[in-house]
Amino acid sequence: MDAKSLIIGNWKMNLSHLEAIVVIQKLWYRLDTSDFDRAEVVLAPPFTALRTLQTLIMADRMPFGLGAQHVHWEREGAFTGEVSARMLAKLDVGYVIVGHSERRAMFGETDELVNKRVRAVLAEGMTPVVCVGETLSEREAGGTERVVTTQLRGALRRLTAEQRGQVTVAYEPVWAIGTGRHADAGTANEVCSLLRDTVSAMAGPRAGEQVRILYGGSVNPGNVASLMVKRHIDGALVGGASLDPDTFAAVVRYWL
Ligand code: PGA
Repeated sequence: MDAKSLIIGNWKMNLSHLEAIVVIQKLWYRLDTSDFDRAEVVLAPPFTALRTLQTLIMADRMPFGLGAQHVHWEREGAFTGEVSARMLAKLDVGYVIVGHSERRAMFGETDELVNKRVRAVLAEGMTPVVCVGETLSEREAGGTERVVTTQLRGALRRLTAEQRGQVTVAYEPVWAIGTGRHADAGTANEVCSLLRDTVSAMAGPRAGEQVRILYGGSVNPGNVASLMVKRHIDGALVGGASLDPDTFAAVVRYWL
């Protein structure tokens, strides 16, 4: 585990490339060097704004990382509408979100496809951010443990132990995403601990220590600190609260 927390803003299908310029610049003015010493801050815009943000980050030497929200597993070819890991790596993308619950629910994402994407991302030297999480009915039926460990095991198939430790996992209970209802910190920490144990069981204790585990689901400036102090939570995947620079800056500076 890293001492720095990892805070990723998942913009989803929001902000044109012009709006993205405004947001990253405002965010940059609101954060200072000590914030970046404590937190690795990553922005995951839609594909159309990746090149724009990359140019700004490079030209102004902004200490932000860049993330993508999706990827295809093939290197190139006749896959209309898709973008490959190699193309993302060329844009200095460091993180790729894979298996987000919105993709699982709306776009037919399966554990098998998640695994293909994870391997493609790792092969290009980037970090996959594997999202796992249970729905409300699964939680109420006592299925949380089974659902999240099955998703994680599926995502980590056919990887070396070293690669398994390099993955970032995001525990995002589906009922907490975009609902304003977050998991209480104790519960979130328990599930994150279970996910860490799952990585240790698959790849050894070193990989279990090394793997970074984020919490996501209605993270905001009011609840982020209670989550981040937990032993097994290494950062946050932030949706709605990452779109507004003031709000996102307050999330990043959670210790203040
Ligand atoms: P939210 O989204 O913060 O708006 O709940 C989180 C996510 O979907 O990654």
